[in-house]
Amino acid sequence: MRPLPTRLLPDSAEVVDGVLHIGGCSVLDLAVEFGTPAFIYDEQHLRDRCREAVDAFGPGVAYATKAFLCGAMARLAYEEGMHLDVATGGELHVALSAGVPADKLVLHGNNKSLTELRMGVEAGVHRIVVDSFDELDRLDQLHAETGIVPKVLLRLTPGIKAETHDYVSTGQDDSKFGFGVASGSAEAAIEQARSASSVELLGIHAHIGSQVFAVGSLGKAASVIGEIATGHEFEEISVGGGLGVPYVDDERAPTIAEWGEVVRAACAEAGVTAHITAEPGRSIAAAAAITLYTVGTIKDLPGIRTYVAVDGGMSDNPRPVLYGSGYETFLPRDVGADRPKAVTVVGKHCESGDILVREGLVPADLVVGDILATPVTGAYGHSMGSNYNMVLRPPVVFVGNGEARAVVRRQTYGDLTRLDV
Ligand code: LLP
Repeated sequence: MRPLPTRLLPDSAEVVDGVLHIGGCSVLDLAVEFGTPAFIYDEQHLRDRCREAVDAFGPGVAYATKAFLCGAMARLAYEEGMHLDVATGGELHVALSAGVPADKLVLHGNNKSLTELRMGVEAGVHRIVVDSFDELDRLDQLHAETGIVPKVLLRLTPGIKAETHDYVSTGQDDSKFGFGVASGSAEAAIEQARSASSVELLGIHAHIGSQVFAVGSLGKAASVIGEIATGHEFEEISVGGGLGVPYVDDERAPTIAEWGEVVRAACAEAGVTAHITAEPGRSIAAAAAITLYTVGTIKDLPGIRTYVAVDGGMSDNPRPVLYGSGYETFLPRDVGADRPKAVTVVGKHCESGDILVREGLVPADLVVGDILATPVTGAYGHSMGSNYNMVLRPPVVFVGNGEARAVVRRQTYGDLTRLDV
């Protein structure tokens, strides 16, 4: 029955005559101008979260670009004083193409190829976060070839299981990421990297998982690696990302500032003297955006459920089908309306798993042709999107001060055949 909790909307959201405005723009007008589906981002919201991260962890805190990346986003995070965490050659390429200087980039990845490492080393990235002994060997090989000695951190697996979905939990001993602390491979890697002439080892890193609400676990991981760093007199530790955000009515999450305080307190207690940095992704981008869809079909199956089909689906938001993630849904034409009707919002893909909102609530007067929105779609939606069923990827629109601009255009049918040879 409840109306949409407006705390899930981007910071600049306002309701004018019942209609949602973001960044001073009517969302219904945006649907006409840019079509649907479309990702609408509140630019100031993104900037303010970047500033909050810089305040919490200092300049050089890195935005994890995997959450949401395009040229405009790369520039925005850089302009706000952040570094950028890039986890593949592709993310590295997009960040460099956007004009972000290489020395503001942190290169991640659990299986970086020689080519990706060469791109990073030759560009002169700020840090490479080394994930395996094979990677140390590849860095030896690159050093022999180029003579360059990159500054590195080692990614450690602290043996802490974050309370989150198994698919995004990375700090436990059984993990493809990092050097295990419990197994002794962390100490062995530190020894090897310290004595190698091919890298300059500055510190260590841990990322225990994503969509974590319990900042205590994030603090604990920080103190585990902080203690190791202190023992080795390292100058830097990175506590990764992982701070959760609320997606639905009953969820609450700590702020970036609160996360920073918990991490700092845990490190202070452990006597850590190293510089502490972090890599937030979701907490910067998720709540900044909503996705707009048009309702195309309503199927009422008496005694079973009502399906509301929209013009996007698992190709613009695969999170419900991958992780069972929940979302809210509402009608921007009547944001404050009660939502007495239980529906399942589905997309236009050819499978039953193509669900956007399994347990959605909508106003009673929902009709075909309505613009329907899902909030908190700014992270891991656009970035994890696909062209399944050759559905066109939606545009990304930045709004602010009453102006709207597409920063990524909608795909065209021509784009779909452009790679054919
Ligand atoms: N640093 C590292 C090394 C990471 O692997 C990640 C996320 C982050 C930072 C940023 O984490 P965040 O602050 O965004 O939680 N696709 C999943 C999330 C995957 C996260 C992967 N790594 C989802 O949609 O929930």
